[in-house]
Amino acid sequence: MKTYRVGAYEVPVLQGVKLEAFAGEALSVMGASGSGKSTLLNILGLLDVPDAGQLKIQGEGVIRFSKARRTQIRRSTIGFIFQAYHLLPELNILENVLLPLRAAGLPFREGRARAEHLLEEVRLSERLKHRPMELSGGEQQRVAMARSLINQPDIVLADEPTGNLDSVMGEQVLECLFRLTRDAGNTLIVVTHNAEIAALCDRLLRMEDGRLES
Ligand SMILES: Nc1ncnc2c1ncn2[C@@H]1O[C@H](COP(=O)(O)OP(=O)(O)OP(=O)(O)O)[C@@H](O)[C@H]1O
Ligand SMILES: [Mg+2]
Repeated sequence: MKTYRVGAYEVPVLQGVKLEAFAGEALSVMGASGSGKSTLLNILGLLDVPDAGQLKIQGEGVIRFSKARRTQIRRSTIGFIFQAYHLLPELNILENVLLPLRAAGLPFREGRARAEHLLEEVRLSERLKHRPMELSGGEQQRVAMARSLINQPDIVLADEPTGNLDSVMGEQVLECLFRLTRDAGNTLIVVTHNAEIAALCDRLLRMEDGRLES
């Protein structure tokens, strides 16, 4: 359950959402603008908390955890891809992908090798030293995708990842997204307005009146 309060106004957004997603599954979420799709994704991605209800990630109830603990779980478990790429303009492509690398654990060399591998997977090996501005929208989104996967997340959440792209670019991005998440056995949840994208997923969910229907 999620209600936004702005001054005296209350905007009830999520009212009865029940969802279970498994490893290796690709789900799409469709629904009218303002129906609460991004709100849902932010909650699933531990960027926001619901007013009531439960969220379990790998069997662990995470809502009551401290903010620091939730951030830790988010960093190690979840990869986020946004409609507007959110790359840092002053960093090159490789540096952008390396940005979320877990400080603890992985030696830099290994992290770098992983970043280079991911950039090869999204077919941008030739562009490591380029700045985001020197890339097309589809290429920038593929960088954002590599960045979302650098910490080897189990769950990948994408909020209209092709919303700013033409259909050819969009297809290239999605081909990468489906291939990489399937190979890694991830749970993939894609919010989209595009029925063709939704049809590529294992399950289609529809957000309506604060409820999620299969
Ligand atoms: N921070 C906020 N404060 C107040 N209201 C908000 C806030 N964020 C979202 N809302 C409201 O919550 C509702 C759901 O918003 P949300 O962004 O989840 O919709 P959406 O389904 O993702 O829409 P779109 O397809 O346009 O991206 C909308 O009515 C929106 O105005
Ligand atoms: Mg949205």
